Amino acid sequence: MNKKSITVFSTIVFSFLLSCQKKENLPTSNPTTTPTDCDTISYKTDIAPMMSTHCTSCHTSNQASAGVNLSTYANVSKHASSSLNAMNDGSMPKSGKLSADIIKKFSCWISQGKLNN
Ligand code: HEC
Repeated sequence: MNKKSITVFSTIVFSFLLSCQKKENLPTSNPTTTPTDCDTISYKTDIAPMMSTHCTSCHTSNQASAGVNLSTYANVSKHASSSLNAMNDGSMPKSGKLSADIIKKFSCWISQGKLNN
């Protein structure tokens, strides 16, 4: 083997090792995107109480600000994505942005198919 082919050979071996290392690191490098990261969210015990604490003071059937009623499953389900957007950009609730934990719960509930559970 001459000097040049040794260099080529070690470059190949090195990139092979690098690619192995990358694969091993993949599952832990971005944990938030794995679906298992979401616990099963219940409409009844997680979402409905959260809505009544933070939203229904202004969004019920008799006071539906912006035409948005968040007091029943059907209506929360209907306004889910606009509500998530409003939570994410901090415009709702008016009193200030909700904690990341609460917003994540709501987002998980949506990605789990907005179950009426
Ligand atoms: C203090 C009263 C108040 C509370 C509490 C409140 N809202 Fe609102 N909401 C409003 C008003 C008023 C509007 C009309 C638009 C505006 O003034 O910003 C609105 C508009 C909206 C809209 C439609 C406009 C948009 O941004 O797409 C959505 C969706 C919404 N609210 C979701 C929520 C959610 C979800 C919560 C609870 C996390 C919440 N709101 C809490 C008063 C409130």
